[in-house]
Amino acid sequence: MHDSSITIQPAKNIAGSVRLPGDKSISHRYAMLAAIADGITRLENFSTGMDCASTLQCLRTLGTEWKGDDGPDNVVEIHGRGPMLEKPKLPLDCGNSGSTMRMLSGIVAGQNFITELVGDESLSRRPMARIIKPLTTMGAKIVASEGDRPPLRISGGNLKAVDYRLPVASAQVKSCVLFAGLFAAGETRVEEPMPTRDHGELALRAFGAEITKRGNATSITGGQKLHGIQARVPGDLSSAAFFLCAAGLFPESNLIIDNLLMNPTRARLLDILIQMGVRISVTELQEQHGELVGTVQVRGGELRGTTIAGVDSAALVDEIPVLAAVAPFSENGLEVRDAKELRVKESDRIAAVAENLRAMGAEVEEREDGLKIPGRQNLHGAEIDSFGDHRIAMAFAVAALRAQGETRIVHADAAAISYPQFFSTLDRLAER
Ligand code: S3P
Repeated sequence: MHDSSITIQPAKNIAGSVRLPGDKSISHRYAMLAAIADGITRLENFSTGMDCASTLQCLRTLGTEWKGDDGPDNVVEIHGRGPMLEKPKLPLDCGNSGSTMRMLSGIVAGQNFITELVGDESLSRRPMARIIKPLTTMGAKIVASEGDRPPLRISGGNLKAVDYRLPVASAQVKSCVLFAGLFAAGETRVEEPMPTRDHGELALRAFGAEITKRGNATSITGGQKLHGIQARVPGDLSSAAFFLCAAGLFPESNLIIDNLLMNPTRARLLDILIQMGVRISVTELQEQHGELVGTVQVRGGELRGTTIAGVDSAALVDEIPVLAAVAPFSENGLEVRDAKELRVKESDRIAAVAENLRAMGAEVEEREDGLKIPGRQNLHGAEIDSFGDHRIAMAFAVAALRAQGETRIVHADAAAISYPQFFSTLDRLAER
């Protein structure tokens, strides 16, 4: 990624309406299942982020034909190959995308050939033992780099079902095992220590698979046939989080987001913002392929602080950076605990948040599993490093709106990993 920086000026409030590109988590899953389904899948409002482009590119390397239009609806049409993909002639390049590598590994583990999966520098540092262990138990042979890091070389085929309890709460790993379960003889069962996003389960059902859920356990029987779907991907709630938090910074804000994902396993952010004093209403709730979608109106208030711990830390794993970035402006600050997973995301997000908040003049306590950020602090503009992490770039663009003076975000183009249009949309919504 070439260097790029963006300068953000302070704002008076956030106002207007916006519709978000398709959710990244859902786009990945729909695209992967479409490739192993029968028939054509047509997806409107597919994610515009580079991560989902990586997934599509990998599917092409696996012999899947698809075409995207560059129109306003961002339609992608994928020709399903039935369950069997084509032996790739090249390694699958997962780019920056942990979701691509982990979930696609579940699918290629079911294929009778060898697949190599590679990633960029950040992805090459991320832990893969969490998928290597269950997939190996199911019968795949996997060679990884030192410390169970990418690249991965997976010899797939002849899988058997597994009864697996995830040691860490991870929806990527849950989906990986369930996708592999489609190719395994018998019933695969995955139990998670606490609930994580359930898009994998909902997508499997949308494509016609039968799965059963009991508490935190999900089961799937191998050999089921999937069929293509026509769907509109709901707007990405984790991208919307930046605008929701930005709106929360100013009492005068008034922001409307329609077609937004409202899946309860993702929407904890709305409860937290309401607790923090942001005024939020949700209307026009409807279900699309099992996913809840609605229109959200956000108006600012006096921002209070809160604590995020336990199950909330897993539920808010992608939103903690932006909550932390607005925390200094709250009445009594933010405490985050039980969030060690943040250290193995696209960057070490605990360290990145602490360093950038300090650069803006804030006091912050960094802990092994979280952060403590006192409230009622004034921040000043500064030079911010995105650490090549999309969510860090966007989180600090939001903090910059209430800082004194301008803020320069270095490597701001990292935002394109999930939301290429972020900076132009923020500029349109921010009243100055
Ligand atoms: C994702 C799950 C989360 C999240 C990531 C997307 C998914 O990761 O951070 O951005 O689509 O399943 P983990 O499963 O590693 O927690």
